[in-house]
Amino acid sequence: MINIGLLGLGTVGSGVVEILKNRKDELKNITGQEIKVKKVLVKNINKERQVKLEKEALTDDFEQVLSDEEISIVVEVTGDLELSYKYITESLKSGKHVVTANKAVVSKYFEELSSLAAEKNLAFIYEASVGGGIPVLKPLREQLSLNEISEVQGILNGTCNYILTRMVNEGKGYDEILKIAQELGYAEADPTADVEGYDTQRKLRILATLSLQGKITEEDILLDGISSITSLDIDHIKNMDATVKLIAEASAYEDGFTAVVQPTIVKNSNYFANVNMAFNSVAFKGDNVGELKFYGPGAGKLPTANAVLSDVLDIVLDIYRKGNPLGEKVLKNYNEKIRGNYYLRISNANEEIVHSLRAIANNVLSLGSQPAILTDEIELSKLMEIITSFNIEKKDYFLARIIS
Ligand SMILES: NC(=O)c1ccc[n+]([C@@H]2O[C@H](COP(=O)([O-])OP(=O)(O)OC[C@H]3O[C@@H](n4cnc5c(N)ncnc54)[C@H](OP(=O)(O)O)[C@@H]3O)[C@@H](O)[C@H]2O)c1
Repeated sequence: MINIGLLGLGTVGSGVVEILKNRKDELKNITGQEIKVKKVLVKNINKERQVKLEKEALTDDFEQVLSDEEISIVVEVTGDLELSYKYITESLKSGKHVVTANKAVVSKYFEELSSLAAEKNLAFIYEASVGGGIPVLKPLREQLSLNEISEVQGILNGTCNYILTRMVNEGKGYDEILKIAQELGYAEADPTADVEGYDTQRKLRILATLSLQGKITEEDILLDGISSITSLDIDHIKNMDATVKLIAEASAYEDGFTAVVQPTIVKNSNYFANVNMAFNSVAFKGDNVGELKFYGPGAGKLPTANAVLSDVLDIVLDIYRKGNPLGEKVLKNYNEKIRGNYYLRISNANEEIVHSLRAIANNVLSLGSQPAILTDEIELSKLMEIITSFNIEKKDYFLARIIS
């Protein structure tokens, strides 16, 4: 019998219980053992639960999970940042493998938790933390033994992708679509972490650190979200035979890297143009394997629980990658070298701003109080300097890189 200590019984936690119940016989056939959720940690023990569990399984005391010697795997799906760090470190220190879906804790404590697990000869795996239900981190870890990865790119946030897809398809405004997304459960009541790109930044931190085999922190990643996009931007973008996505990208550059999360205008013929609604996609390039692309549901109860349980299964079958998968390269940040062609629209622009925009434009899309231009190829840092000199607020401009 394999006993699991499940931390969290919300969306993902209840999916884990459901799949384990529905696939009980198949899992037993494959592993030769029954996989059982023995203890479940929750915040509010009195809350009404949809999931049926043995009464004594539920607890609000982590010690009950930690001190249970029959529990060999802890599955952390609380979403809490600092407490989950405590739960994960204490679990590893007491000899329990850990699986988590929590990108915030992986991103913040990636190096520390990876080396603690390696030191203890235990698993610390987190497939669901990037790309929800898409199996991408395991194939990435596997390819790292055989390849130098030069680039990783992705659409990593379902909320942003849902909002942008519906804005493009329906011509409705940002606020209207955000409200619908909130009503349908695609966006949180406070959407900041999603729409301002922080969630994507955390996921890129994980992907980039693994891919390029050196520490790349959240602070190393240039970040811009989608919240200032307007219907005018969408009209201009559609006229370019293109669409817009929040794309995360990290690339090897000389003895270091570049890493950025930013709205990106992609031609309709581009692969990413067809990743729509709440779907995610990750692509990476290896020197031997070439380009690999992964596509699937970026979130949701069952897809995410499925990713969590595929990690659990790798532990039970003892086929998880041993040792510390993080590399030790010291990588230099070359973000100041990022350059490209950009779309820029400013609201309430004065004549001086319009004049400055004309100077860097190779195509003027609109004038008046809402000028929009396409730039010549330019360094992003230089473009940001120009925008900063306008002394305008973030909500008053929308900037997007253009790729074909
Ligand atoms: N939802 C998705 O589609 C998805 C996709 C990918 C990754 N993830 C990640 O998966 C994790 C869980 O997400 P979720 O959507 O399942 O969250 P959720 O629905 O809010 O559920 C959180 C669960 O954890 C419990 N909990 C919260 N803080 C706790 C604490 N400090 N100590 C003990 N229990 C605590 C809650 O207890 P109560 O029930 O008593 O309130 C609840 O059962 C997050 O890290 C999230 O980023 C989620």
